[in-house]
Amino acid sequence: MANIMESITIEGEVIEVNDENRYAMLVPDTQVLDMSTIYKQLMFYYEAGIDQITSKLQIMNKEFALTNDRNPIESIKSRIKSMESIMNKMQKKYLEMTLENLVRNIKDVAGIRVVCPFISDVYRIAEILSSQSDIDVIEVKDYIKEPKESGYRSLHLIVMVEVNFSTQKKKVPVEIQLRTIAMNCWASLEHQLHYKKEHAFTEEMKEELKACAVQLADTDMRMQSLSNQVFGENKDVE
Ligand code: GTP
Ligand code: MG
Repeated sequence: MANIMESITIEGEVIEVNDENRYAMLVPDTQVLDMSTIYKQLMFYYEAGIDQITSKLQIMNKEFALTNDRNPIESIKSRIKSMESIMNKMQKKYLEMTLENLVRNIKDVAGIRVVCPFISDVYRIAEILSSQSDIDVIEVKDYIKEPKESGYRSLHLIVMVEVNFSTQKKKVPVEIQLRTIAMNCWASLEHQLHYKKEHAFTEEMKEELKACAVQLADTDMRMQSLSNQVFGENKDVE
């Protein structure tokens, strides 16, 4: 699935991209700008990354609907991580607060959540996105095949999307979470239950949450089977 990037053109100069400079590339020139302008500029790059991927997803959805009379995407939500969350995460990772550390280590500054009707839609959308020439997949976490200890299920991709700005191209990291309606139902409710931080979860409550996740996963499988019967296993892939 992954096609790791090779080079990037900055102001006409082709530069080989490697693990060392991959993330540093995104940091605006600190010599010319003050810190708050640099931060704003950096966040603008992340926003542009979100816009580009969102547009790709919308196009896929419309194109698919045109030929298959149904939408493989139910909803798309995105967010830029707040400065407070970024700082908390960097603190947890014992990272010095520098822009380069931010760009190198916090891969979910730009986040998109894609909710699909069926499990097959989740993988289809991920596959199509991954195959596009301006996208490099740098990390895949398949919490559908291997759910998290909590019961959480989703497919997480971290991609670098190449964005054309007025005078330069930049590769922007974006975290994409893809999940079914049922997985989203569980994650949203579980998130709400964890809001009241002072309420500790007993082992029994954790087990109950996991059991709910298993039940929803079972429903997803049965719905997938019905979908295969209605639409054909691979009939709506093209
Ligand atoms: P973070 O430090 O949270 O980013 O962890 P990570 O870098 O190991 O990333 P991971 O792939 O585990 O995904 C983190 C994101 O997935 C979170 O920000 C949530 O949006 C979502 N997520 C992961 N686990 C759970 C869970 O148990 N419940 C819910 N509701 N969401 C989860
Ligand atoms: Mg994360």
